[in-house]
Amino acid sequence: MPLAKLQAQDDFDGWRTAARALALADVPAEQVSWQVGDDVGDLFAGIAETPVPPAPADATFSVSRGFVDLAETVILHADPERFGLLYTMLRRLRAQPGLIDDHADPLRRRLEDMAKAVRRDIHKMRAFLRFREVVEADGQPRFVAWFEPEHHIVRANAGFFVRRFASMRWSILTPEATIHWDGEALTEGPGAARADAPDGDPVEDAWKTYYASIFNPARLKTGSMIKEMPKKYWRNMPETALVPGLIAGAQHRESQMIDTARAAPGGNAQLALDALREEAAGCKRCPLWKPATQTVFGEGPPDAKLLFIGEQPGDQEDLAGRPFVGPAGQLFDRAMADAGVDRATTYVSNAVKHFKYEPRGKRRIHSKPNGSEIEACRWWIEQEREIVKPAVTVALGATAAQSLLGRVVTISRTRGAPIALADGSEGWVTVHPSFLLRIPEEDRRAEEYARFVEDLRRVGERARTLAG
Ligand code: URA
Repeated sequence: MPLAKLQAQDDFDGWRTAARALALADVPAEQVSWQVGDDVGDLFAGIAETPVPPAPADATFSVSRGFVDLAETVILHADPERFGLLYTMLRRLRAQPGLIDDHADPLRRRLEDMAKAVRRDIHKMRAFLRFREVVEADGQPRFVAWFEPEHHIVRANAGFFVRRFASMRWSILTPEATIHWDGEALTEGPGAARADAPDGDPVEDAWKTYYASIFNPARLKTGSMIKEMPKKYWRNMPETALVPGLIAGAQHRESQMIDTARAAPGGNAQLALDALREEAAGCKRCPLWKPATQTVFGEGPPDAKLLFIGEQPGDQEDLAGRPFVGPAGQLFDRAMADAGVDRATTYVSNAVKHFKYEPRGKRRIHSKPNGSEIEACRWWIEQEREIVKPAVTVALGATAAQSLLGRVVTISRTRGAPIALADGSEGWVTVHPSFLLRIPEEDRRAEEYARFVEDLRRVGERARTLAG
């Protein structure tokens, strides 16, 4: 029985090397045992082990970027079966590459659910970590936090904390590992116990002030700190503690599965939204960022009870950097006013955050986002919803509905009735304002406009009722 040994729970490179060699040797998934570290435990006692056969030097092997991204995230999941599941998927993908886009496939779905759980855990760590201040022997403060992640995410999150709290000394203690930043280098140590972390109130006020200052976009240079961190400092670290790959690896993973909103200790939704907006500004989760002018992020009060999702920014939104300011936005504003809903009290965003268009002469013609672009961008709207926590979310049109519900729906069939969302809040679907703009016959346009206004009136009322 081939035994694939991995260095650590999050050893993606080790998994990839072993999986590649095993797949090239055509070893069925059920014959492979995966082991992390040296601890085999009882499971494999008495089973004859053989090392993974080395891959032939001239062997060619390619898998889609989508699978690599998925695997990098799933590897961080706590489920011990993940290595084998990913390997099974890898073997199936070699025979059927299109499987990566088949979201109905049970294994594909299971892996996606696992990736989602990991991303949530990463977000939770960023959002809910509470630092306590301790004074070290040299009289300087160190901020120490205790966190119990559900998955193996500590390394993957390290780069984030290094960037955010570059000029402070801090330690994050978890049962599996501890990470420490001294302002210059990151070190890693063994797991800790809750009792190792200081007790007492978190340093809320100091922390909030700190967050407020680092989230001033004018001051923030995302990513530059890590690139500039002088390697000379690494030499001075004890060898066992120095983890140079930690930062690069974490940053790499982070750029792919970033889920950045996080409240300041004490939970400040505005700061969390600001942080999320800032991260979204550098989003490259799909190719739409390239031709677009900028990311158009949502806007509105962080505690809005009513949240609207549009399709994607149009030409004017792309230039202005704000959602729904062009012709569709003006119609939306008028309909909201007619419905008695004050847009300023609602949060308005889009399913896709970059303008997708076809250049035609000097004009840029709107082009509908496809399924993978909607899926890639879904992360941001989910985070916005998670921070704002609206009582009612309204999808304007089919793209928004697909993003909100995770499936393709027909507007005429879903319109007009509440849909229970996974977080316990209510979802509604109606038409997109640009649908109204495209209706040529005046009578029909007026009729549809009235229906749209009625939908807005109902959701406004629902939000007021649910919010109490
Ligand atoms: N259409 C949308 O869906 N969103 C906008 O922000 C503008 C037009």
